[in-house]
Amino acid sequence: MESRKLYIETYGCQMNVVDSEVVAAILLQHNYQLTEEVNEADLVLINTCSIRENAEQRVRTRLRDFGKIKQQNSRVSVGIIGCMAERLKEQLLEEETMVDLVVGPDAYRDLPALLQEVESGQKGINTILSLEETYGDIRPVRMDRNNVTSFVAIMRGCDNHCAYCVVPGTRGRERSRDPETILRETRDLFDNGYREVTLLGQNVNSYQWENGKQNMTFEKLLEEVAGIDPRLRVRFATSHPKDLPDSLLEVVSRFPNLCRAIHLPVQSGSTSVLERMKRRYTREHYMERISAIKKYIPGASISTDLIAGFCGETEEEHQQTLSLMEWVGYDFAYMFKYSQRPDTFAALRYSDDVPERVKGERLTEIIELQMKLSLESKQRDVGQTFEVLVEGTSKKSENQLFGRTSQNKVVVFPKGSFSPGDYAHVRITGCTSATLIGIA
Ligand code: 5AD
Ligand code: SF4
Repeated sequence: MESRKLYIETYGCQMNVVDSEVVAAILLQHNYQLTEEVNEADLVLINTCSIRENAEQRVRTRLRDFGKIKQQNSRVSVGIIGCMAERLKEQLLEEETMVDLVVGPDAYRDLPALLQEVESGQKGINTILSLEETYGDIRPVRMDRNNVTSFVAIMRGCDNHCAYCVVPGTRGRERSRDPETILRETRDLFDNGYREVTLLGQNVNSYQWENGKQNMTFEKLLEEVAGIDPRLRVRFATSHPKDLPDSLLEVVSRFPNLCRAIHLPVQSGSTSVLERMKRRYTREHYMERISAIKKYIPGASISTDLIAGFCGETEEEHQQTLSLMEWVGYDFAYMFKYSQRPDTFAALRYSDDVPERVKGERLTEIIELQMKLSLESKQRDVGQTFEVLVEGTSKKSENQLFGRTSQNKVVVFPKGSFSPGDYAHVRITGCTSATLIGIA
């Protein structure tokens, strides 16, 4: 039988990137072959995100393009997978007539069967969430990667129920993946030349695997992954401030290949906003955790996520976010305007009452402050030497390479005799707020 061509486009978080690789692995076993050319495809899948309204808008716009492709070639099928599929279910089939297939994050094993239905002229849909599915046994097919860095999913779902967030609804209950499969996948990556993995989960600190006598915590898992080879760098994301224990920081401090970069989303610097967000920690608790990071892992970079204009946020509460940012001195931040999501606790219980204009102004203040903090963070590195893992050729110049420090800062430097996957010792000679510039 002639093989069919699959084109996948991925939106949203790193977990979605891995999910697309899992989907590719499943379909490659069912007579599909990947293509990077959408016009060549028999099956177009769009792996979607629902986190903010504009993420969904972007997908709806892109669907118009796929609709046109379908008009020209009626053999093409279009599927929506991921968080938007889970959130909107049948509604997507009704609203977007070019869509043939809707599959949620826990139903990817059902894709081959659903595609048979689509081939026989029906629509295919499965949005059942699972308590067990981790795709643990599936070896993701790595797509457009640099062959140096990769993600490894260690858990799925989320039990935190932050008031603003759709994720517990779209990804279901939290569950951890069998550590044996995590270690096997990571060893494989290393043997194939990869030199960095990021262990992924919505809340990695609550990783927990029990099987008879075996009890694996996140700390133990990290030790085992770090023990695979000292030349393999290991990162992890995301940690929740309410349960980032000293014992984890202590493990990081003991292994030089566990990266000196902690991503600890704070969302707001105000205890009252945090309470409304149902984050289950205070400003003071968060500050205490930052002090612990600085004590256990001197020189670690600290990054965060911030939301501007959450329900009921006053000017004073917003100022608390700015003052916390200054106090921590974040090296990097992802910054967003609050976007009300249907069926979340906040949508059901609070009023989205910060005017759009004020949200925008507050976000701008947050971004401007972070630009200053990011620049200061880079300036502190000038004159120092860092071990840089080379990832590829710089976009701006063929004669320059780029890579990252353990602190996750991007460094650009002259090529010399280095190649992707090498470690180079680079002396930092200059910087912008986004990039370090150096010589090896
Ligand atoms: N509006 C804006 N930002 C959000 N995030 C999650 N939900 C929302 C929302 N409704 C942000 C948080 C989270 C990151 C992944 O996205 O900062 O940490
Ligand atoms: Fe990832 Fe959340 Fe977007 Fe789903 S909604 S793709 S979990 S960021």
